[in-house]
Amino acid sequence: MNSYEVLKLLGWINIILASTQVSMYIVRRINKHLFKNKSETLKRSAKLLKKIHPYMGGMLAVTATIHGYMLLGGFRLHSGYFAWLIILAVVFFGWAGPRYKMKNWLKIHRALVLVLVGAVLFHVLKMKSLLFQYPYYFSARKSRANCTCRAVPNLSISSSILYFS
Ligand code: HEM
Ligand code: HEM
Repeated sequence: MNSYEVLKLLGWINIILASTQVSMYIVRRINKHLFKNKSETLKRSAKLLKKIHPYMGGMLAVTATIHGYMLLGGFRLHSGYFAWLIILAVVFFGWAGPRYKMKNWLKIHRALVLVLVGAVLFHVLKMKSLLFQYPYYFSARKSRANCTCRAVPNLSISSSILYFS
């Protein structure tokens, strides 16, 4: 596995971390609505998820930064950075909300997570789907002629196209 593949794998680790975070909410809802809060297993799972929640959130901020910054080689306008900015906002409200007793922080925290789900879906679809790639294919070919970007070894055709997008 080369470093490029590791960085792509980090993208999936981001997804796993974010899903674990969201599953705390889902487990609680399932317990409340389907089991009238009587499932001890779900209660224990939610408790465990609550315990690891701040650590997983912090880790997600770090792994998302490494994945994005190293894949792109810097900061630029990109679907991934949009998801990243929302992660930073989610983490900020999760941390500062209870600490400074902000009004409605949990509602904001949850609402931002909804936006995050949309942003991540858009990012991953954009990175993986041919549907989004065709318009970029032509603009990338044009800009490559006088491109000053550094060369990216070992990128597949589709990825090198995306590199320019
Ligand atoms: C920090 C900003 C981010 C940037 C700049 C970024 C950039 C990229 C790029 C350039 C690729 C394409 C790699 C390639 O095929 O050559 C990619 C793939 C991917 N990203 Fe991101 N990303 C960011 C954040 C995220 C976040 C927050 C998540 C998930 C929560 C994520 C999940 C993924 C996944 C699952 C892939 C597909 C990996 C694969 O092809 O196997 N990324 N990202
Ligand atoms: C270091 C970062 C984070 C901190 C400190 C944090 C903190 C918190 C806290 C204190 C709660 C309320 C817990 C409770 O109701 O028992 C909460 C709820 C929640 N968090 Fe986070 N959070 C962080 C990151 C994240 C991330 C990255 C996500 C999603 C990707 C997320 C998703 C949620 C959701 C969906 C809830 C609602 C749970 C519910 O109401 O049942 N959090 N968070």
